[in-house]
Amino acid sequence: MNVLVTGGAGYIGIHTCVALLEKGHTVIVADNFCNSTVDSVNKAMEITSKEIVFYHIDVTDEQALESIFSQHKIDGVIHFAGLKAVGESIMLPLTYYFNNIVSTMLLAKVCLKHQVNRFIFSSSATVYGEQKVPFIETLEPLPTTNPYGETKAMSERILTDIAKANPTFSVSLLRYFNPIGAHPSGLIGEAPNGIPNNLMPYITQVASGKREKLSVFGNDFFTVDGTGVRDYIHVMDLAEGHVAALDNLTAGVHIYNLGTGQGTSVLQLIQAFEEANRLEIPYEIVNRRPGDISSSYANVSKAKRELSWTAKHDITAMCRDAWRFENNREQIKIR
Ligand code: NAD
Ligand code: WQD
Repeated sequence: MNVLVTGGAGYIGIHTCVALLEKGHTVIVADNFCNSTVDSVNKAMEITSKEIVFYHIDVTDEQALESIFSQHKIDGVIHFAGLKAVGESIMLPLTYYFNNIVSTMLLAKVCLKHQVNRFIFSSSATVYGEQKVPFIETLEPLPTTNPYGETKAMSERILTDIAKANPTFSVSLLRYFNPIGAHPSGLIGEAPNGIPNNLMPYITQVASGKREKLSVFGNDFFTVDGTGVRDYIHVMDLAEGHVAALDNLTAGVHIYNLGTGQGTSVLQLIQAFEEANRLEIPYEIVNRRPGDISSSYANVSKAKRELSWTAKHDITAMCRDAWRFENNREQIKIR
């Protein structure tokens, strides 16, 4: 298939490009590089020895999208392009609503015009809000506490309504849990700008000496050791989940949790990282981060049943691969 991957230069997008290329698909990337660089695209071509056609465009630019669709016969789209920092979305709600919602609407519009009927959307476990774990796809989404989460819930609703009105349109709404890790080559991975918001990139930066110590946000949650529990999933497993969703897409709207089904606490993740990489991660317990929920992990039986997909990597592999990538980046900077 010819697959248009918006946001394909970003963290999850580029790993998915590698997985698609390895399965024989042709990949066209559209990215404005607001949170990535062309370097990841070059590295993905190096890993796979295959070509990626890429366009430096903004997905909120309808003319630019039109131009791609008129130059290529697109068979399906995977829409990763979006802004994703929860805290920033509270400060810049209009930027988030505009970027994340308008991009989804325009991409769907151009797909319909060009009879492109396969649409995979990057949603998030954040749409579940705080409810009983494990989260299952039949739970009603709850209002989230931030504009970022709202953009995911709204995009899901918009795509659902479009699919209802257009019976040949097929949509897969993929609710990711917590992606971490990197391609085993160490060439591509998560490289956030500035101070990381998420746990794993913070841990790897403490490991590299870039940050002094990790702040653990609260140890008074109702969990195994009081720290927050999440369902961490290796980014390559997540990438494979997209390929499976694309290969198995049928008309209508399909929602899938992409996680491992296993919960890991912050302290457990620190310990796993230390053991996997024989390093020490200094940390201190601080107050809870506003908006954080106690536990989030997935019921993954639907993806297993309908997509024949399950996550394969364990926490040790996630920690090893995350560190390999960060360590490589640091070595390159030193040289
Ligand atoms: P990322 O920031 O690394 O990748 C997003 C990419 O989209 C970047 O390359 C960025 O430059 C591009 N982009 C943003 N707005 C654009 C626009 N208007 N036009 C063109 N390109 C644009 O983020 P990621 O972690 O790879 O996340 C990918 C998607 O998955 C996002 O939609 C995110 O909300 C969603 N998601 C991420 C996580 C996570 O923890 N990483 C969890 C759940 C859902
Ligand atoms: C994980 C755990 C923190 C940093 C966020 C978004 C979500 C999704 C993924 C896109 C929590 C704790 C973290 C730190 C810590 N993104 N923590 N110290 O909050 O589950 O999800 O990213 O859709 O929408 O909300 O991920 O990695 O930030 O936190 O103790 O420095 O680590 O409290 O328990 P989160 P995270």
